[in-house]
Amino acid sequence: MAAELRRIEAGGSVLRLRQQRLSCAPQDRGMYSVLASGRPLANMKRMAPPKTTAIPHPSPDFDFATFLADSTAQVNRALDRFLPKAAAKPSTLHRAMRYSLFAGGKRLRPALCIAAARACGGRPADALPAACAIECIHTYSLIHDDLPAMDNDDFRRGKPTNHKVFGEGIAILAGDALLTVAFEILGHATARPRYSHRDLLRELASAAGSLELVGGQVADLEAEGQKVTPAQLRYIHERKTSALLACAARLGAMSANASPRHLAALTNFGHHVGLAFQVIDDILDVTRTSQELGKTAGKDAAAHKATYPSLLGLERSRQIAAHLTRLAFAALRPFRGHAVALEALATHLLRRQA
Ligand code: IPE
Ligand code: IPE
Ligand code: MG
Ligand code: MG
Ligand code: MG
Repeated sequence: MAAELRRIEAGGSVLRLRQQRLSCAPQDRGMYSVLASGRPLANMKRMAPPKTTAIPHPSPDFDFATFLADSTAQVNRALDRFLPKAAAKPSTLHRAMRYSLFAGGKRLRPALCIAAARACGGRPADALPAACAIECIHTYSLIHDDLPAMDNDDFRRGKPTNHKVFGEGIAILAGDALLTVAFEILGHATARPRYSHRDLLRELASAAGSLELVGGQVADLEAEGQKVTPAQLRYIHERKTSALLACAARLGAMSANASPRHLAALTNFGHHVGLAFQVIDDILDVTRTSQELGKTAGKDAAAHKATYPSLLGLERSRQIAAHLTRLAFAALRPFRGHAVALEALATHLLRRQA
């Protein structure tokens, strides 16, 4: 395990891998590399987040609550259309898929995808297949994350977990089917002059795969009860969570035929808010109740998980999340003030209480 964690540390950042696949302006690359250097945080003292939780104010004219309610309603309708009906055979499987998918998730990844499309001048409707595909992958990852062999949680989205209702076998298969249907749904996206179907599908496959989401989940399990460094912790969180949020931003941008410069900016943005998202998730696990979260609170400490609060303390974790949010705002500079939904989203992700 220690050798594996050392290899992780030497292996560099998922952000750097992404950067190699991007063609972005040199000025964007500089900012990108703030987190993408792959060097252990200990060697990055001069970049240590300042001791403040202040962030810029998003535009007061943008009504984020209405934006999130609208995008959630659109995504829920589209998911209902894309998924096989509950009665379709085998109905146990389709009921299990729909049980978790419509259990009341916050739908923040689809909102990110749609907001990214909007920032690039695209229409929400064109981003819907990508937004729905991302939500299916996310929901599958939660069903599997809750299994007894993983985090062993009985509650999710305010309800008993999938395996508690349908049994472990069906829960595993419902996860498999949600993962698979995500690619079928993404197949409904319209190709753009700059981005083919192949590009879109490869994007989702790599974010969900063994080098990113699944790899992060493996590292998360293997780090239980181990002493990890900040760089190893960042490696885990970048992969298990940040990769899918960055993918949501990128697919939204691609659905709007984004320029390479805008795609690079949104990649940065997605990685920063994605890492902040998991830092906040770690904080909420310590500071909120199970009822407030809709999932079991306090589980990270009980399972000896590697988290930001356990490694660095609550206050430092809050400062890091705020720092990442400031970096996310900075990443939006190429949009010259026309990415108000994304600014509001970054603020909402930082301030959320569940
Ligand atoms: C929970 O994600 C899992 C993490 C990656 C931290 P969310 O907090 O977005 O969960 P839902 O979708 O609202 O249930
Ligand atoms: C989950 O991280 C990440 C994925 C499901 C990929 P956590 O294990 O911290 O998420 P919660 O706290 O159970 O929602
Ligand atoms: Mg987990
Ligand atoms: Mg978990
Ligand atoms: Mg958690």
